[in-house]
Amino acid sequence: MTQERSGMKIVVIGGTGLIGSKVVTKLGERGYEVVAASPNSGVNTLTGEGLAEVLEGASVVVDVSNSPSFEDAAVMEFFQTSTRNLLNSEAAAGVGHHVVLSIVGTDLLPDSGYMRAKVTQEKLIKEFSIPYSIVRATQFFEFGTRIADSATDGNTVRLPPVRFQPMAADDVASAVCGAAMGSPLNGIVEVAGPEQFRFDEFISRGLIARKDPREVIADPHARYFGTELSDGSLVPSGDALLGETRFADWLSRSANQARSQVA
Ligand SMILES: NC(=O)c1ccc[n+]([C@@H]2O[C@H](COP(=O)([O-])OP(=O)(O)OC[C@H]3O[C@@H](n4cnc5c(N)ncnc54)[C@H](OP(=O)(O)O)[C@@H]3O)[C@@H](O)[C@H]2O)c1
Repeated sequence: MTQERSGMKIVVIGGTGLIGSKVVTKLGERGYEVVAASPNSGVNTLTGEGLAEVLEGASVVVDVSNSPSFEDAAVMEFFQTSTRNLLNSEAAAGVGHHVVLSIVGTDLLPDSGYMRAKVTQEKLIKEFSIPYSIVRATQFFEFGTRIADSATDGNTVRLPPVRFQPMAADDVASAVCGAAMGSPLNGIVEVAGPEQFRFDEFISRGLIARKDPREVIADPHARYFGTELSDGSLVPSGDALLGETRFADWLSRSANQARSQVA
């Protein structure tokens, strides 16, 4: 059920980020009072700075923040401390719904420090007193280059040939907004892209489209952010909501945008 929107304040933690900025725009267009919160606007979940002030009068908090560092200890410190600070401040402010963006398969990959930190974030939320919704998304199309960079050695990118079902950041943001506008699930909803690929082939298509000369090699033992993958690690486990945007359309739109920025 969609909540009454007039006068309803929603705070978006990480509201300046890739997903956060889209969530802020979409909720604003739907008539909600939306506040984008991040260190740039004086709100820091890691230190607690500005949290009490920004959460005053908020009904819903959407957490789409991300750790500046993906190093194991730093990312755990970020999601653990930030989430604790945020939940405690939300309780003090009387917030009624905590929405967080997590990752499909996050609990299947304990060898990845990043995934361990996201599991810890989810656990803190589940065990706290505030009603919540966890939106688990697959990898964003926009994340493809960072994945390639992390798997690059010289001119070669090694990735395992597992199933991969990525989605556009815009569709992720729509799913997060849907959760924020609805009643708390006190559970998890999974969202994914409309098509499945092989991981190595997907990354290769993105590199070719950008005329990136790196060669992608399918290697079943290649690690993805510190962990080996099995065939089902990165795809939804059951029924997932599916985004609308197909990869080929997204690629040609991105290429057109890049051309118009150069022109
Ligand atoms: N990448 C993927 O494929 C994928 C897939 C599924 C889920 N996710 C999840 O999606 C979420 C959002 O990712 P994204 O790519 O949109 O992130 P992003 O573009 O890197 O943005 C991160 C946001 O977090 C804010 N932030 C950083 N440190 C903060 C702090 N101490 N206190 C408050 N805010 C802070 C940043 O603020 P400033 O601008 O002020 O620095 C920025 O607004 C992450 O939680 C990630 O785990 C990612």
